[in-house]
Amino acid sequence: MMVNINVNGREYKKDIEPRMLLVSFLRDELNLTGTHIGCDTSNCGACTVLMDGKSVKSCTVLAAQANNHEITTIESSDPKLDVIKQSFVEENGLQCGFCTPGMIMQTFYILENSEDADEEYIKKNLRGNLCRCTGYKSIIDSVKKAEEKVKGEINVSK
Ligand code: FES
Ligand code: FES
Repeated sequence: MMVNINVNGREYKKDIEPRMLLVSFLRDELNLTGTHIGCDTSNCGACTVLMDGKSVKSCTVLAAQANNHEITTIESSDPKLDVIKQSFVEENGLQCGFCTPGMIMQTFYILENSEDADEEYIKKNLRGNLCRCTGYKSIIDSVKKAEEKVKGEINVSK
């Protein structure tokens, strides 16, 4: 079947299998391999992307369901994503990095949808994203720092 999917602001028209998952479409059809596959049980969140601004696990969405929708991935050049990435680096919000694209995309969703995300809100919204390395404290610190930067409380060049 033909699908027309906008990914990071660019339109892609592709002839695909109707059963193809969105994560496979991104990775195998578009070579956008920043979106990871960390499980086969829909638990880990490594595959998180935004679909029309809502976070979704792209391993649970068919590419056909994304037809005529807008997808944002870790490869997006949105300046807010750059701020989040920088904050994860500064706060050591990653070790092996496998979960990181999903964590960053979920953080993007949190910051797009909350003016004032406190620690409880952050924890609640990250509960679909698993990390096998960090113990989460550094990830939560990274989200908080990104939030402060986005709100202008910290100079983004720091
Ligand atoms: S790959 Fe683990 S939730 Fe999608
Ligand atoms: S940094 Fe290794 S799984 Fe999260």
